[in-house]
Amino acid sequence: MHQFMNEEVTMNRRNFIKLTGLGLGSLALSSSIVGCSGNTASSDIYGWNGPNPAEQDIRLKVLSYAILSPNPHNKQPWIINLTGPRSFDLYVDPERLLPATDPYYRQIHIGQGTFLETLAIAASGLGHQVRFDYFPQDMYSNTELLHKPVASVELVEQPDIAVDPLFDQLLKRHSNKREYDNRSLTADEINTLQAFHGTQNDRPLSLVSGPQAQSSFEKILTEGMQIEVGDRARDDETIAMFRFDEDEVKQYRDGFGIAQAGVSGFKKRLIETFFLSRNSAEADPTDFGEQAVAMTRKTAASTATFGWITSTGNSRLDQVKAGHDYCRLNLKTTAMGLAQHPMSQVLQEYPAMLPLQAEFKETFGINAQDTVQMLFRLGRAEPTPHGPRRLVSELVQG
Ligand SMILES: Cc1cc2nc3c(=O)[nH]c(=O)nc-3n(C[C@H](O)[C@H](O)[C@H](O)COP(=O)(O)O)c2cc1C
Repeated sequence: MHQFMNEEVTMNRRNFIKLTGLGLGSLALSSSIVGCSGNTASSDIYGWNGPNPAEQDIRLKVLSYAILSPNPHNKQPWIINLTGPRSFDLYVDPERLLPATDPYYRQIHIGQGTFLETLAIAASGLGHQVRFDYFPQDMYSNTELLHKPVASVELVEQPDIAVDPLFDQLLKRHSNKREYDNRSLTADEINTLQAFHGTQNDRPLSLVSGPQAQSSFEKILTEGMQIEVGDRARDDETIAMFRFDEDEVKQYRDGFGIAQAGVSGFKKRLIETFFLSRNSAEADPTDFGEQAVAMTRKTAASTATFGWITSTGNSRLDQVKAGHDYCRLNLKTTAMGLAQHPMSQVLQEYPAMLPLQAEFKETFGINAQDTVQMLFRLGRAEPTPHGPRRLVSELVQG
């Protein structure tokens, strides 16, 4: 193997991938070889141990859980302004947006809702009730971002509060981006999720399974990724959040890398050493984009159940509420031993995506006026390592 590596490393990266067939797509899919556990040494740090047991401040304790919520590109777009001994305001961090792929910050606001939901669940586990006052200084429109709180949060001590059963899932939940095993969820699982989400929910959940849905999604999701890549600003935005090696993870404590797609151990080191480099991806994102498309095709093709959450309105509050819903669902699927993975390209609002988005809605009978807030795949797969989180202190002002 050593000799193999020495010979191959003299070739350029593109030839290497072609000759060995070791593109990221195929690598990410070899779960039998990967043999990865969700509980690696690195998943014990970067926030995933929960609050420091010595921490006394209830605000910091609940925030230690809230930072673990799902959020776009693991940007962690949150600022906390402490307003009282048991209260704080949540703001969008204007330095942590994704303007090229999320031009109206819709996904960023979903990531505020996931944060608030995780926080509420954590508070229940810590003997506190949470009171939210959404957009207390008025809600801004869905095309602007103003420096106004998304929510004022008050923690009220209530030792007899019923602990949300999802509390046990907070340190386990993750987005599982690896290949699934091609089996649909069972009818029981579908019913459980629908009942959990609630048939009266203003933001209905749709779940579809079967070969026809699978082939439509394989086509639509792959095309979505094809549209997404190949545009310099969008490529740069993704590459900026891609963590090419452990040093970058340590330095930034945000973003995502091949570990989150299920690549671990020797293979991960090999790829990070010889295939992936920030310099070459930034100089020419073509290979990086091609791998993203190949990976999207393979992961979609490995999945037999897809879901989405729709809202009739698309106000900032609708987006935040969709985040609450999505987060709960992801925690519920975690409790059920299922894997879940958002795939958002086709939902994005930049002009080049809109024709495919219209086709997606038509294919699945979604009202053209409605907003699909989250689209994701569901299935079964080995867990992947957690994405890193920054320190709570980095979010907190005041
Ligand atoms: C609004 C939103 C959109 C997302 N879109 C995608 C996506 O298109 N592709 C993807 O791989 N993950 C997507 N994710 C998942 C994030 O990458 C993931 O939540 C983040 O990296 C943190 O990782 P974790 O969920 O495993 O903790 C999305 C998450 C949210 C909340």
